[in-house]
Amino acid sequence: MQDIPVLTIDGPSGSGKGTIVKHVAQKLGWHMLDSGALYRLVAYGSQNNALSFDNEDSIADYAANLDVEFKLVDAGSSSETGQNGQELQIILDGKVVGPELRTETTGNAASKVAAMPKVREALLQRQRDFRRSPGLVADGRDMGTTVFPDAQTKIFLTASAEERAQRRYKQLKEKGISGNLAALLQDIRKDINERDERDSQRSASPLKPAEDAILIDTSESSIEQVVDQVMAICEKNFDVV
Ligand code: DC
Repeated sequence: MQDIPVLTIDGPSGSGKGTIVKHVAQKLGWHMLDSGALYRLVAYGSQNNALSFDNEDSIADYAANLDVEFKLVDAGSSSETGQNGQELQIILDGKVVGPELRTETTGNAASKVAAMPKVREALLQRQRDFRRSPGLVADGRDMGTTVFPDAQTKIFLTASAEERAQRRYKQLKEKGISGNLAALLQDIRKDINERDERDSQRSASPLKPAEDAILIDTSESSIEQVVDQVMAICEKNFDVV
């Protein structure tokens, strides 16, 4: 297992991680772990099953038995963007999960269940099982510190809170959101600050760079520039062309 290469990419919400990880995994031809999706699924599924967030044991039990399948299907079905004309379909408790997994509401709920040590423990092995040949690119908050401490290369992406808020605001505007846009930007700023605070102050695997992580600030860079930077690191550290 230890021989299978792992690249960990950690960082706060809005640092561009998700997109960068997808591009890098595709270029390397490696598997991908979106660990945030697991926390989102636990939060979303717990809410659907009317589990109380005050009862850590019941959420951890749900997490330990999480009935989820990640399936690559032909593009066009109700699912998320994947590789090579295919899309990643997520099936939770036998039902396809759509865009509701990526909403701010689910993100906030995910941040709450992610602060529960028993939930993190319940998801640990499931995350490690994603380490399969020829390699894994793992995206999250504690990939380099807790889940894959022996990863050969660790990257920590940052961007200022204001830049991350502006990116999220732009995405929502592009989706055609209407209403009071100034108030929306204020809400996004508040949400990012609260989420950063919760993710980095919790006692269980807080968001922080591993000691041996390479820090990349993406505030002034395009996605392409960061992907090139990460690929240059991979070419140096791994046996890849
Ligand atoms: O990356 P994301 O926005 O999908 O993550 C959703 C939440 O899950 C986020 O608030 C922090 C939490 N999370 C975590 O605590 N540890 C991880 N490895 C991944 C996500």
